[in-house]
Amino acid sequence: MNDFRYRNGRLYCEDVPLEKIGSAVGTPFYVYSHATLKRHFRVFDGAFSGLPHLTCFAVKSNSNIAILRLFIEEGGGVDIVSGGELYRALKAGVDPEKVVYSGVGKKAEEIEFALEAGILMFNVESGQELDAIAACAKRTGKRAGVALRINPDVDAETHPHISTGLKENKFGIDIEKSLEAYRRARTLENIDVIGVSCHIGSQVTKTSPFVDALKRLKKLLGRLEEEGFVIRYLDLGGGLGITYKDETPPEPAEYAAALMAFARDLPYTLIFEPGRVLVGNAGALVTKVLYRKNTDEKDFVIVDAGMNDLIRPSLYDSYHRILPVAERERVEIVADVVGPICESGDYLAKNRKLPGVDQGELIAVMSAGAYGFSMSSNYNSRPRVAEVLVRDDRFYVIRERETYEDLVRGERIPEFHM
Ligand code: LLP
Repeated sequence: MNDFRYRNGRLYCEDVPLEKIGSAVGTPFYVYSHATLKRHFRVFDGAFSGLPHLTCFAVKSNSNIAILRLFIEEGGGVDIVSGGELYRALKAGVDPEKVVYSGVGKKAEEIEFALEAGILMFNVESGQELDAIAACAKRTGKRAGVALRINPDVDAETHPHISTGLKENKFGIDIEKSLEAYRRARTLENIDVIGVSCHIGSQVTKTSPFVDALKRLKKLLGRLEEEGFVIRYLDLGGGLGITYKDETPPEPAEYAAALMAFARDLPYTLIFEPGRVLVGNAGALVTKVLYRKNTDEKDFVIVDAGMNDLIRPSLYDSYHRILPVAERERVEIVADVVGPICESGDYLAKNRKLPGVDQGELIAVMSAGAYGFSMSSNYNSRPRVAEVLVRDDRFYVIRERETYEDLVRGERIPEFHM
């Protein structure tokens, strides 16, 4: 459920017509509903209310500090994968003890930053990374809480680019070698082995892969207990899918019930790292139709947002619903909705049936709240777009549109060219 709806033929986010935001901030822009974000967090987090748990929002899915703050105020923590994400989360006011740090390529300076900040734990993805964390901890005189990220070798049955829990993926430590890795971790100075973690993939639309992963981790946890490890946290990652088109992913309550059937009696605090399920359907990208153009082969709707603003269709062939901001009787067309970028892969929709929109109109590309702005770039020297948060009948610019000045910030012409 989300808070984008037509009222009297105009598309609203909560109580604000999208046209109104377009007139004030120009196009394109991302818009998010405060009510949807809050509700999604409460539904997800509330689904586990019977158990000690911590919901750590995956910052990579939407890193705006206003969004982070909203989840933090709701009691959430964060899952980060870089020093930059830690910086953002701290700016947003996160409690460092609610930060988990994942990712296969943590650098020494990032590890030190996290140790200085006092994060809860590192989800460690290799033996060498473990050594690097131990070395940094020793150098800075800190102790590092660690979980090993286990690759459970389960098929998340999702797009290959976003599947992470198979042996062939670069993520985590092979479950068969994990006991060995735990034994070694325990011998390292300044390291506290406190958790077990996994993340099997993203946009997962069934409960079974999550349950399979949990079952495998339980076996490992049993062995760890036998060997005297004191594990406090079981981090089950993120990955719960959403409806973009006609997918029917489990509701958070169903996902929670499936997991709790196997986790209820475990003496650990469960950690979750949801991204998409919290923000995906809470946001849209609003863009203006610049031109209509027909070739013998195709009908094109050329809009002012491109693959630099929303790369998911180009990268994963993903489907985002497209709605005209003004609803009225129209003839239906079949068209490619394309951006201004000089690449044939620059499209938001291909061969899409949609209402015949006119030049100058606004359209909303739906379900764009996750991996939308956060994956955007300046390609073709396009300033990144504004982000707007709607709450009731007011809207707030939570990131200004970039300027041309912003584009060249930090660039220099060497003196031999002066
Ligand atoms: N935890 C870890 C360690 C992750 O790598 C990810 C996502 C998450 C949590 C959050 O997963 P979620 O709940 O959002 O599925 N750019 C792609 C998605 C890449 C996901 C990367 N990792 C897309 O646009 O579909």
